[in-house]
Amino acid sequence: MAKLKLGVLISGSGTNLQVLIDACATAGYPAEIALVISNKATAGGIARAEAAGIPVAVISHKDFDGREAFDDAMHEKLTEAGVEFICLAGFMRILSDRFIERWHDRMINIHPSLLPAYRGLDTHARAIADGVRFAGCTLHYVRPDLDNGPIIAQAVVPVLPDDTPDTLAARIQVQEHRLYPAIVRLIAEGKVTVEDGRVVYGGGVDLGENLTDITSPRT
Ligand code: GAR
Repeated sequence: MAKLKLGVLISGSGTNLQVLIDACATAGYPAEIALVISNKATAGGIARAEAAGIPVAVISHKDFDGREAFDDAMHEKLTEAGVEFICLAGFMRILSDRFIERWHDRMINIHPSLLPAYRGLDTHARAIADGVRFAGCTLHYVRPDLDNGPIIAQAVVPVLPDDTPDTLAARIQVQEHRLYPAIVRLIAEGKVTVEDGRVVYGGGVDLGENLTDITSPRT
């Protein structure tokens, strides 16, 4: 079967990109990365893509007059490269509604909180300040409302008494790195659909004991 062609959008170190690169390099993985786009020329993830021989486009939002023009340039590059599905992996720009609608149900994001709690930035500092006992990450489809699309999967970690935003972020990232390639595999296999704004799994999916899925609780 043809592999699902991914476009991965990054702004930073690209550790989530790296786990997707590694997954795509394993035998039988049903997706491949056709293009990486970074909006920052200094993003560490660029070297990761280059080392793997993956085409990279650096498209700086600063070179464009407005959000839609920047998004149009990305859309053009993505379609030129034959991208069918977008993975946001630490991409720190808000996308225009037009771009999001073009990629409806074909674009997912990893967010470092248990949505719908802590949308937006500084999730770890806010969680620590609130004294919450659990934090985590969420993979979700992207919708025009920021960090508010159908939830695909979540993973939970404890918040420990002496956590700093950095130590909590590191604990959450371990889970991000497990979740992202596992869920992209399921999507590429056609086992994830959105019905009435909620994610439904098909095809005998077993998310495993540590991948907490709040959209389809098992009885
Ligand atoms: C990840 O932890 C991701 O959850 C977060 O940025 C980090 C990127 O790390 N994303 C957001 O905050 C999106 N609002 P990486 O560049 O090492 O993959």
